[in-house]
Amino acid sequence: MDKKIFIFDTTLRDGEQVPGCQLNTVEKIQVAKVLEALGVDVIEAGFPISSPGDFNSVIEISKAVKEPVICALSRAVEKDIDKAAEALKFAERKRIHTGIGTSDSHIKYKFNSTREEILETAVKAVKYARKYVDDVEFYAEDAGRTDNEYLARVVEAVIKAGATVVNIPDTTGYCLPEEYGAKIKYLCDHVEGIENAIISTHCHNDLGMATANTMAGIMNGARQVEVTVNGVGERAGNTALEEIAMILKSHKNTGYCTGIRTQKIYPVSRMVSNLMNMPVQPNKAIVGRNAFAHSSGIHQDGVLKNASTYEIIDPRDIGLDDNSIVLTARSGHAALKYRLSVLGITPSPERLESIYKEFLKLADSKKEINDEDLLVLAGAERSEKCNVKLDFLQATSGSGVRPVASIGLDIAGEKFTAAATGNGPVDASINALKQIVKRKVIIKEFTIQNITKGSDDMGKVHMQVEYEGHEYYGFGANTDIVTASVEAYIDCVNKFITK
Ligand code: KIV
Ligand code: ZN
Repeated sequence: MDKKIFIFDTTLRDGEQVPGCQLNTVEKIQVAKVLEALGVDVIEAGFPISSPGDFNSVIEISKAVKEPVICALSRAVEKDIDKAAEALKFAERKRIHTGIGTSDSHIKYKFNSTREEILETAVKAVKYARKYVDDVEFYAEDAGRTDNEYLARVVEAVIKAGATVVNIPDTTGYCLPEEYGAKIKYLCDHVEGIENAIISTHCHNDLGMATANTMAGIMNGARQVEVTVNGVGERAGNTALEEIAMILKSHKNTGYCTGIRTQKIYPVSRMVSNLMNMPVQPNKAIVGRNAFAHSSGIHQDGVLKNASTYEIIDPRDIGLDDNSIVLTARSGHAALKYRLSVLGITPSPERLESIYKEFLKLADSKKEINDEDLLVLAGAERSEKCNVKLDFLQATSGSGVRPVASIGLDIAGEKFTAAATGNGPVDASINALKQIVKRKVIIKEFTIQNITKGSDDMGKVHMQVEYEGHEYYGFGANTDIVTASVEAYIDCVNKFITK
């Protein structure tokens, strides 16, 4: 019988720390529910002391999700631990995740402290957290660069103090797989009482080694892995959940398995990407658009003769089925509802009706509606609650003419119009928009992305702006890229106007 590797999902904590990927509580609950259906063992729901929003999300996720353990992060500080415990009060199965930096660099520069003092703080924090819950995970931040002998002393002490899980993060993504595997083995071999706790991996992808390091951890004694959907996370991200799940499923000889229902991987990946406005790179392992697209003649010939020639994973194992994708203007409510449910979305009847209306509008301008389009439509609800709305937009451009745009906005029920020129229709539209908004907004980043292929495709626009020293992110999606650009700008404006 294979040994189970526990999947600790931190999409809603480490993954959500990425600028521009923040989710509101309703969206976090939506993600938590699909993670539960996916079969994760632990959901790290947030860092309650960090903001009232995070605190509230941990409370609401604890109420909404009952199967996995709900975990809340804290520093090794009593007031953090109090807040984490308070946020977990409705959780059926709860864990406090507390910890402190243990590398010499963290000890000296972050804490201006000593190894002995850090060890004492770690032990105190674990004992304090154990007063609230039976399940306490300790993280030794920057364990990847921590001296093994000292790390073993810390791990031994926190297990004695009551830690049930010890997390060994490669916080900076620096370790080589051999080195990280050896670190886990060192702890297994040298820590007295190690059998009383689960060792957890937590790897970052700064050098592209997060998955390899996590696998090295598993092969050397770790029984929990900390991962995110699509590998989202700060900088280069965290270990991707789908990669570990599919590695262990495909390599049966490792003797390890997970409880992940792999057929749900693809829809969950798309849902998270969409809610976080974080595109999945086309060549991303397992869930990228091209992950199963064989384009060379030799490969296509081989796959047609027998898929196993070039495919090591059956696409159906991750929930990709060929005949599923397309809806058209003739598709009814039932087809739309079914396809949304496959994508992990179960709207109320009223919400389904409004998505259906938007679906028909889109189907008028685009022959085939695919999953990506549906996710954009299902996520469009957000803009309806905003103060600033686009009333109309007309932009003209072409060869030999100066592009010009006129725009109408509805700001809290009041109508405003303006017209402007620019070096292209997007520039003209944004210039017109600026005349109404009248704030010093600087566009820092502006990306236009198609969703699938073809000239009738929807364009997605991600925008980052700076206003009064703060950065705001906006998103727009439309078959008209000028409108999508304006929507993204308005999305940014709504964020600082409603702040
Ligand atoms: O990368 C890291 O060290 C972390 C800890 C807070 C667990 O995310
Ligand atoms: Zn991390």
